[in-house]
Amino acid sequence: MEKLDWGRAAPVCFEPCLDSTNRRLKELAAGGAPDGTVLIAGRQTGGRGRLGRSFASPEGGLYLSVLRRPGCPPERTATLPAIAGLAVCRAVRELSGAEPGLKWPNDVILNGRKLCGILLESVAGPEGLRIVAGIGVNVNLRREDFPEELRDTACSLLTETGRETEILLLARRLTEELDGLYAAWLNGEKAWLEEYRRLCLSPGREILVIRGEERRPAWALSLGEDGALLVRYRDGSLEALRSGEVSVRGLMGYV
Ligand code: BTN
Repeated sequence: MEKLDWGRAAPVCFEPCLDSTNRRLKELAAGGAPDGTVLIAGRQTGGRGRLGRSFASPEGGLYLSVLRRPGCPPERTATLPAIAGLAVCRAVRELSGAEPGLKWPNDVILNGRKLCGILLESVAGPEGLRIVAGIGVNVNLRREDFPEELRDTACSLLTETGRETEILLLARRLTEELDGLYAAWLNGEKAWLEEYRRLCLSPGREILVIRGEERRPAWALSLGEDGALLVRYRDGSLEALRSGEVSVRGLMGYV
């Protein structure tokens, strides 16, 4: 495993190929890896997505996981996925000039298609909560690098800007944004919420709420303080959706 010297207190490690940076980092966490450890892979053979899905991870993408030991009760961490999404939006904007938004809770969207997926996994260890935040950004993938079934809903920085982006430069910028936003979040600062509301594309759209096999059309209304998405179903009933339980999909297009 190569160590990258980015002048951070916690280590940044790179492996050309791993099954899953999330899985491997959870293992390192159990072995005592410090808070803030970052693990990056050039490609993944068993990339994991939300809700038990897989995540296509060919060469040309950025696959990064960061370990956090927040020392707070689990219910406080519901807003962390939003923080990770914001960090990706900032880093992508700074490095490529592209202006991504977020599909609730934390898919990063560019021109109506998915640029990046985020998976947070938490494990309660004897020393407290460990959180592994995994981020997969489609950086230099061409359309044909995506599995057939994703070609209409996924995009990459290359397909949208026509330019290649230096993957480790993006990784470093992303890590800096994650570190800064996380420190503010840990401090109880709420400034991120306004930025999240500005970037989140879901409110005001007609969506499908997906829970297992069930699909229910609804209007996405607004975002709560805790990052929950408030929706109204066609029968008039309201629900605050929490990110661990459901996913949403636009009724008119992906977002
Ligand atoms: C999703 O869109 O469903 C979430 C995808 C998360 C993918 C990233 S890539 C780095 C990290 N390692 C994994 O196995 N998954 C996450």
